[in-house]
Amino acid sequence: MSMALTALKSPVQNKASLILEPLILGIESSCDETAASVLKRYKDGSVEILSSIIASQDKEHAPFGGVVPEIAARAHMQKLDHIIDRAMRQAKADYKDLSAISATAGPGLIGGVIAGLLSAKGLAMSLDIPLIAVNHLEGHALSPRLAGACEFPYLLLLISGGHTQLLSVKGLGDYQRLGSTVDDAAGEAFDKTAKVMGLGFPGGPNVERTAKKGDPNAISLPRPFKGKDHADFSFAGLKTAVARAYDASDATPKAKADICASFQQAVCDVLTERTTKAMQMYRREVGNGPQRFVVAGGVAANSQIRAALDALCDENNFSLLAPPLKFCTDNAAMIALAGAEHYVRGNFDNYDVKARPRWPLDSVSAKNNPASGFGKRGPKS
Ligand code: KG4
Ligand code: ZN
Repeated sequence: MSMALTALKSPVQNKASLILEPLILGIESSCDETAASVLKRYKDGSVEILSSIIASQDKEHAPFGGVVPEIAARAHMQKLDHIIDRAMRQAKADYKDLSAISATAGPGLIGGVIAGLLSAKGLAMSLDIPLIAVNHLEGHALSPRLAGACEFPYLLLLISGGHTQLLSVKGLGDYQRLGSTVDDAAGEAFDKTAKVMGLGFPGGPNVERTAKKGDPNAISLPRPFKGKDHADFSFAGLKTAVARAYDASDATPKAKADICASFQQAVCDVLTERTTKAMQMYRREVGNGPQRFVVAGGVAANSQIRAALDALCDENNFSLLAPPLKFCTDNAAMIALAGAEHYVRGNFDNYDVKARPRWPLDSVSAKNNPASGFGKRGPKS
């Protein structure tokens, strides 16, 4: 092996030299949140979040009604040093006390991912500590543990602006994708619905607020994939139907409220119907084992969706764990947590590890059933 490659290896290669209770700095920059967190993992597996700083880019993207990748990358570059420094200060941590640095290395908007990963590489190399490249989806998958104990295995519904997936989470690094969106993510559908009606960005909270005054049965909207014998999702048709309904309406506040309420009801129906399918698949897999259901991602903030999933779990004998919103939406504590889990197992990455715009958690089922973003470069998530 050449000298150059040896030099790029993370320094700790020997399990015996691992710190038993590591202090990890996590960095997240895969979409429109610049985030850093310092987390301590104890021997018993519990974690303490010493800081979790999140700088949203809502203001930067609001004029465009959605996330603009170039603007996101530039904003991450401008904010990262400051956010990392704030996370360290709030945690009252010294850089020399860090055991490792973990950063999102994909999937996501590549410019932002590169910015965060570069910061992590620079810090890890200068401190001579290991670098851990984390899959953003693994961060979401493990996020319930930030709020308290959450034992494996569980069925996870991840509903955010970038992803909509159902995963069987069996253990660290052991994920099976049961379903995924074939087009838009659920959060994207909320954002586009809001954009069509001029309700502002991010769309989810505005659509939810507007829907409160509307009639969920006022407009007839499709329920894509209803009754299909798989657990995939589709939201593109719903988005188009909303745009058509709005064009045909008189655009009054009442019309907007009815469209929002009908749209939210349709998303609720789609999520619960597809999750029911995944619950059947999951039950076949775990047999008589515990039936736990976790929901994560920004769309899990929607109270109608949360209530519907709660009722669904009751009907199907699943216990529901819905982490607090601050751990549902993008944050760096979940990236530090995933980093800590890999650290204690001695899983490190070379300092020249690459950022990956596409990085399926379960590459086998992503290849066999490439529901989401399958193109020349392979499945996205
Ligand atoms: O998890 P997240 O912060 O970032 C991504 O990984 O995408 O999720 C953001 C998404 C946005 O699309 C936003 O509109 C949606 O979550 N969202 C909501 C609500 N709050 C945020 N969607 C529906 N209802 C809400 N209350
Ligand atoms: Zn996310």
